Amino acid sequence: MPDNHKKSHHGAHPSTAVLTRGFNPHLSVGSARPAVFRSSTYVFSSPEAAERAFDLTSGRVAAEPGETPDLVYSRFNHPNAEILEDQIVPLEDGAEWAVVFNSGMAAIMTALLSCLKPGDSMIYTVPLYGGTQGLIHDLLEPFGVRCVPVMAGRSDQIDQAIASTAGLRAVLMETPANPTMVMTDIRRAVAAASKLPERPVVMVDNTFLGPAFQHPLQLGADIVLYSATKYLGGFSDLLGGLALGNDSELGKKIRVKRGLHGNILQPDECWILDSRLPTVFLRMNRQSKNAQRIAESLVGRPEIRKVYYPTLFDDPEQIRIRLSQCDYSGAMISIDLHGGKPVAFEFLRNIQLARNAVSLGGVETLVCHPKTTIHSGLSPEEMVIAGITDGLVRISVGIEDWRDLLRDFEHALDAAKTVQLSETVPSK
Ligand SMILES: Cc1ncc(COP(=O)(O)O)c(C=O)c1O
Repeated sequence: MPDNHKKSHHGAHPSTAVLTRGFNPHLSVGSARPAVFRSSTYVFSSPEAAERAFDLTSGRVAAEPGETPDLVYSRFNHPNAEILEDQIVPLEDGAEWAVVFNSGMAAIMTALLSCLKPGDSMIYTVPLYGGTQGLIHDLLEPFGVRCVPVMAGRSDQIDQAIASTAGLRAVLMETPANPTMVMTDIRRAVAAASKLPERPVVMVDNTFLGPAFQHPLQLGADIVLYSATKYLGGFSDLLGGLALGNDSELGKKIRVKRGLHGNILQPDECWILDSRLPTVFLRMNRQSKNAQRIAESLVGRPEIRKVYYPTLFDDPEQIRIRLSQCDYSGAMISIDLHGGKPVAFEFLRNIQLARNAVSLGGVETLVCHPKTTIHSGLSPEEMVIAGITDGLVRISVGIEDWRDLLRDFEHALDAAKTVQLSETVPSK
């Protein structure tokens, strides 16, 4: 049987490496699972070792080959962060390092601030997660960074913006884009960035499809970003974030900035997140299969104006991008309902198995109304550009039996239909 999987750690496949590397039981009194190291500070073996550890942690000197610096203080690093970072690397195709954060926003902010200073420019695709858009408007722009939006999926516009933006230091893409699933061609943006004399850092928020179905580092991106709160965490019970890449200098810069910002993930949360990694491919495969079946079954329902799901793209360029950069389509669906907000709210009121909550990627199905929740901070113009309508409902599909979920949605659509009808029939 052909075996095209990336192998690492003694030639093992990712699903094996995640369980076998990064943790030595003998350092945890023989326990089969890592201990939780709840200590804010670490005892040095000598004053010289302390001096060396500070030089290494601050990035003032580089480690000798094979040198393991002493731990210093848990805002910089701690064993559970190290174990988690080592174990996630094989799951992300092309990654050599990982840096863990206390949320996805922390990972995005710290990665961007590692590459940008006042006077620099960055390009970002829209639609974008509302929080990231807020970070751009409320932090980066007042800080003096010129932030240029480009339409996700419009490769010609992105090429043009990359070629013509002075002082460009970072390109941030979210693909598929939240909540309309528009895809951006990562390889092509990397090619445009590589033509510049000083190549900007290309970052991809891979929260929706990674690490299972999309591999931006293999397509030439420099940094992959995650809200680990979502599929990596998988159970809607923790917050976390990650940056991964293969350029060691970039990894070092981000790690040093994390020490300054103080936004490393705490030991207990690292331990929990670490225990979720071995099942992330299993969960995402099941969630993606469920979502595809549900999305394709909802097509044709008269209450729905449009189902947004990658296998249902009708634009040839979007189909090309999907086929060229995604293994499977993932578990996020959006539906645009006729009748706007009252109908969308009636739909939400009538779901019984799925829950009306923001966030995504958990084993349980969550449904929300983007316009009044996750994207409510967007300006009316940004809302139109992003394609966020009054009737749009976003669904994060879990691992339940898809037939039960479909029945739940069909029942909620039947209920929403009564509002649609009362809106269209004039009262006497
Ligand atoms: C695509 C995407 N990126 C980043 C984030 C931010 O992650 P967090 O909530 O973990 O800070 C989210 C949160 O919903 C998201 O959907």
